[in-house]
Amino acid sequence: MDIEFVRSRFIKHFTGETGQVYASPGRINLIGEHTDYNGGFVFPAAIDKGMMAEIKPNGTDKVRAYSIDLKDYVEFGLREEDAPKASWARYIFGVCREMIKRGVDVKGFDTAFAGNVPLGAGMSSSAALESTYAFALNDLFADNKIDAFELAKVGQATEHNYCGVKCGIMDQFASVFGKEGMLIRLDCRSLEYEYFPFEPKGYRLVLLDSVVKHELASSAYNKRRESCERVVAEIKKTHPAVEYLRDCTPEMLEAVKAQVSEEDYMRAAYVIAEIQRVLDVCEALGRKDYDTVGQKMYETHYGMSKLYEVSCPELDFLNDLAFDCGVTGSRVMGGGFGGCTINLVKNELYETFVTTAKERFKAKFGHSPKVYDVVIGNGARRIC
Ligand code: GLA
Repeated sequence: MDIEFVRSRFIKHFTGETGQVYASPGRINLIGEHTDYNGGFVFPAAIDKGMMAEIKPNGTDKVRAYSIDLKDYVEFGLREEDAPKASWARYIFGVCREMIKRGVDVKGFDTAFAGNVPLGAGMSSSAALESTYAFALNDLFADNKIDAFELAKVGQATEHNYCGVKCGIMDQFASVFGKEGMLIRLDCRSLEYEYFPFEPKGYRLVLLDSVVKHELASSAYNKRRESCERVVAEIKKTHPAVEYLRDCTPEMLEAVKAQVSEEDYMRAAYVIAEIQRVLDVCEALGRKDYDTVGQKMYETHYGMSKLYEVSCPELDFLNDLAFDCGVTGSRVMGGGFGGCTINLVKNELYETFVTTAKERFKAKFGHSPKVYDVVIGNGARRIC
């Protein structure tokens, strides 16, 4: 992303002076979907696309924010009752409030921001925005710096408390902790994490964006989480130590099958299997066994489509198509209900796959999918 572009808009829309520039990335996730809020494992990486913001304290108690991409301007105060209506501005407002709750003396500022992570494509543009501001406000206003994990939690709390999405920690974590060339395996129960260099020789990762955006994605997401919590509550009756689906075995789930709805049972079965798949994939990567990695990705897609029911016809089509083309691994990425598939493709198959996918998808749905090559980049940072 271009600093000069953001800076020129900042100068134009505010006092003509410059401030500090910060950036944070979106993310991919190789495997481990809907496992984070279940205390399980995820395996994300930051990407080379994200959000960039210029910020300058303005000596007032107001935030004046300009979205360069949307050409929209919003002003808000830093008190609870001043929450703005525009959804993009609620992310910034939420981050300010959450930083204040953690003792940071946030003052009024002017800011302009832009992004190149596609919105609603399952690459966490919102986490990129939250992390950008959490990192920036920490840098600009905190006497006692907040640690990186807490910055990720600021973004997550913003989603929970100001945007109505009861998300897990994966997106904000990846956006803050990302490192060039590295996947990160995070244990969402203990918050231990480990970097894994990802240079699959002879393969590349490519995202195919269905360009489908699901209107009700946030309420459907929250419902999935509630299903998981109901199953945990049931299992807890006989296994009091259980806190998350992470702590449950397939046998424990079978034992409560008659006590939970069929739907909740399917959701939990998916999650329990998916948590194990992350570990299996880490192990297979260690052996450079990309066939197993790919097979697990297909299994995830099946589970997300048939058990967790967060896919859609366009994503199922892209997944089938990948399989037909002989692609090593493919699955819906992120929360689901639209967005991208992530595909592990042999170099020699790449051109044929992308061309075939574009043609066949267009013939069926009337528009081409967008294609993004994955480049694994760095996490939240100050640019200048
Ligand atoms: C969204 C959420 C994450 C995670 C994924 C699904 O991206 O923000 O916390 O639950 O969906 O894996």
